[in-house]
Amino acid sequence: MTRLWIIARIAATLFLVASSHCLPPPATASAVVNLTLTPVAPTLQSVSTTGCRNHPGGGKCPEFAPCCLNGYCSDDPRYCSIGCEAQNSWKETSCFPPAYCSNIREEFDNPRLANVTTFNGNPNEYDLTTDYNADSVVVQDSKLKITMKLDGKLNAYGRPQGLGSVVSTTRFMQYGKVTARMKTGSSSPGVVSAFIIRNEDPGDEIDFEIVGRDPTEAQTNFYYRTPPDMPTNLIDYNNTGKESLNTNTAAGFHEYEIEWMPDYLLWKVDGKVVRSVFKNETKDDIDLITGAPVVDPLTGKHVKKYPSTPAKIQFGIWDGGQGSEGTGAWAGTPTNWSKPGQTYEVQVDSLDIQCFYQGNETVTWPPKGYGPTKTHSGPYFTPGLDGGWSLEADDVLKDEKTPTMAPYVPFYKNANLMIPTACLLGIALIAIAIVQVTKRRRLKQVRWQ
Ligand SMILES: *[C@@H]1O[C@H](CO)[C@@H](O)[C@H](O)[C@H]1NC(C)=O
Ligand SMILES: *[C@@H]1O[C@H](CO)[C@@H](O)[C@H](O)[C@H]1NC(C)=O
Ligand SMILES: *[C@@H]1O[C@H](CO)[C@@H](O)[C@H](O)[C@H]1NC(C)=O
Ligand SMILES: *[C@@H]1O[C@H](CO)[C@@H](O)[C@H](O)[C@H]1NC(C)=O
Ligand SMILES: *[C@@H]1O[C@H](CO)[C@@H](O)[C@H](O)[C@H]1NC(C)=O
Ligand SMILES: *[C@@H]1O[C@H](CO)[C@@H](O)[C@H](O)[C@H]1NC(C)=O
Repeated sequence: MTRLWIIARIAATLFLVASSHCLPPPATASAVVNLTLTPVAPTLQSVSTTGCRNHPGGGKCPEFAPCCLNGYCSDDPRYCSIGCEAQNSWKETSCFPPAYCSNIREEFDNPRLANVTTFNGNPNEYDLTTDYNADSVVVQDSKLKITMKLDGKLNAYGRPQGLGSVVSTTRFMQYGKVTARMKTGSSSPGVVSAFIIRNEDPGDEIDFEIVGRDPTEAQTNFYYRTPPDMPTNLIDYNNTGKESLNTNTAAGFHEYEIEWMPDYLLWKVDGKVVRSVFKNETKDDIDLITGAPVVDPLTGKHVKKYPSTPAKIQFGIWDGGQGSEGTGAWAGTPTNWSKPGQTYEVQVDSLDIQCFYQGNETVTWPPKGYGPTKTHSGPYFTPGLDGGWSLEADDVLKDEKTPTMAPYVPFYKNANLMIPTACLLGIALIAIAIVQVTKRRRLKQVRWQ
């Protein structure tokens, strides 16, 4: 009895010592909240060039699940549409080409708005998607209402924070004129309302942003090639404009317009130009390695830091007041969440898109020759499609996306399971050894007696 007791004690001690090293650390309470205005679809995490990131075999996607999206392979058409990573997919033509601009006038009586988690990828059926937090987007009284409510969890700063939402066009525009009649949701410090044109990769962007710190001021901005994974210190935040509108944008509807042309950009509010930028007056693009201005081989001219790639139109709302100090200083802080059930919302009464190129594209979808060549019963992987990424910002306009579902990891590669399993096996072996040794000793003792 005593020996068994000692063995049990030793085993228990070993287990405790081992478990402090062997078992995974307890989950931390704080959720990752690195919020940005992020808008777009399940698109774009930083695109890996060495294969589809979470594909267990590594490398490109297999033929039966040919499309790579956010690092996952599937034959689901959604994976082959917006954000599909051509270089990591089975073939270049596994991904559908981006759908180009269509001129529309949307009054939100009956908009063709899809929940991005169920969107079939067809831009001929839907003009808009709710990219993040679909439940927070409603169409009511002929208005698109994009709302923000309090998240149930504390963020990484230990503060409650609003969970924003985003709506994007399914099509990409390359130059044109976009007009939105909109009421901002920036009625409390910290609430950021956004109407932007954006391409996440390479990262061109043109913004209207209204922050709750001063809802009478329109902030305008543009970015040139700022991919989501670019280090914050390389992002050029120096193109911001601030224009006083002498009216509270959260109290009534106003018309916001972005006119984006190959050689100039205009921001207008209620028909009045509040800012203009000429391409010839923007900065030169600088080669990060040589430090020399980048030269366009076609024209021999310096490449300018001017947005020029096809981009989506997006509306969003997010809570900048409860995150990092820098963002709070910019957006106003704290965000007023004192009233239970408080929400903030951006309302869009109309959206008018006039494309500069390809005014009314009418291709069939998916285009001939694109997409999966074989069909497979059901998706191969479907995690992360509703793309729960969140906003932050030391990187005000930089995104940080976290798939909502953990990717599948084969057991033999799963450190979370492997380590404790190995440890438990080790402990069991030690215990068996001790039992054996003790048995032998006992046998010897028996013999001696
Ligand atoms: C372009 O197509 C959309 C439907 O996709 C239609 O509502 C609109 O009137 C068309 N615009 C023009 C200028 O033809
Ligand atoms: C969007 O789709 C997801 C997944 O099917 C669902 O949970 C959510 O309720 C939907 N939201 C809306 C507004 O339809
Ligand atoms: C936000 O992301 C940056 C990197 O992009 C990271 O350095 C920072 O710690 C993150 N903040 C939080 C609160 O997670
Ligand atoms: C932005 O402006 C700051 C201060 O004027 C300067 O130090 C920084 O180098 C600028 N950044 C870029 C990318 O031009
Ligand atoms: C840039 O172009 C505009 C419009 O053509 C012109 O008025 C302006 O003088 C130009 N600026 C420079 C620096 O050349
Ligand atoms: C916060 O909001 C509540 C309810 O909307 C309001 O009564 C209160 O005055 C606000 N607090 C501040 C500091 O503005």
